[in-house]
Amino acid sequence: MSIKVAVIGCGGIARRHIHGFGLVEDAEFVAMCDIIPEKASAYADEYGGKPYTDVVEMLEAEAPDIVDVCTREQDRDVPVLQAVERGFTTLAEKPLYSAQHQFSVRPSDVEVGRRMVETAEQRGAELFMAYNYRFGEYAQRLKAMIDEGELGELEYVHASTRLACWAHVIDLLRWFCGEVEAVAAAMSGPDDRRTRAGSLRFECGAVGTLLGEGVRPGQHDMLRIEWCGSKGTAVLRDIAGGLEVYPHDRGQETIIRQAHDNPRAGFDETFDREVAALCDHVRDGADIPTATGLDGLRELEVDAAFYVAAESGEWVSPREHVETAGS
Ligand SMILES: NC(=O)c1ccc[n+]([C@@H]2O[C@H](COP(=O)([O-])OP(=O)(O)OC[C@H]3O[C@@H](n4cnc5c(N)ncnc54)[C@H](O)[C@@H]3O)[C@@H](O)[C@H]2O)c1
Repeated sequence: MSIKVAVIGCGGIARRHIHGFGLVEDAEFVAMCDIIPEKASAYADEYGGKPYTDVVEMLEAEAPDIVDVCTREQDRDVPVLQAVERGFTTLAEKPLYSAQHQFSVRPSDVEVGRRMVETAEQRGAELFMAYNYRFGEYAQRLKAMIDEGELGELEYVHASTRLACWAHVIDLLRWFCGEVEAVAAAMSGPDDRRTRAGSLRFECGAVGTLLGEGVRPGQHDMLRIEWCGSKGTAVLRDIAGGLEVYPHDRGQETIIRQAHDNPRAGFDETFDREVAALCDHVRDGADIPTATGLDGLRELEVDAAFYVAAESGEWVSPREHVETAGS
């Protein structure tokens, strides 16, 4: 039995997902769906599956095992809701939803995201998020070191990122540090790419800083996370820029260093691993393979909290600010 995959949104990022599914031996494309008929037909010709322009018609005809929603963030809610309302296992690109732009998440977007997650829960549909940076080799090594206690208890985290990776870095910080309890922030620059600098307080009691910017040219080292624990400090540089670990009891000795000329190398493989893990889950019931819709919602809450905190000048709790700040 093959794993039947339907792709919705035949644009740029869909190609990365399609590459990953193409590597899974028993994955089979049954549908390529886009509101622009030429795009659906072109992808169907190139990758297989039947072209569709209507999501509901496609779902009813093909009954896919995985619905892969690769539309833009403004167009994410409708196809995701159409899929989860009908109980389909769904993978959504990031961020979960944003009406304006992925760099301008507002509390009203959180409400839409919450509806997507709650609908999936009510209909018993599994909703996953394409937080593929979790599948970077060094991100996985850092996560394992944290979970095994090699770095001790978190003291602080210090992160910076290009806006292109903004949602990913919030997701990574939640993954590495736990839930964010409160945010204080300031912003500057044009609305669709506002530089934002924030202070974070985590539920574990540790503190952190996060800067997001769309100013620097080029793509070198798009993100950097310094995770300092009671036993050691680790520095993650982008996807393939390496992981440096400084055990506190050995001075400045570096125990891992894998500098790479191209810190963005390995980007495609993060999708390949993510999609393979999702297929394992669907085929064999393997553990929840990747970030869930709830992770997508929690990321949106932190994202919107930056905006509310910058507007109000107050510390903002990501879970509560929607009720208190409105949209
Ligand atoms: N995970 C990552 O690392 C990563 C990297 C880049 C982009 N992205 C995300 O991927 C998303 C898509 O970006 P893109 O550059 O591929 O966009 P794109 O514009 O190239 O493709 C989106 C496609 O969706 C189609 N579409 C819109 N509404 C539809 C609907 N209701 N039904 C079917 N098709 C519909 C559009 O016609 C378009 O062809 C963005 O939200 C972006 O944030 C993620």
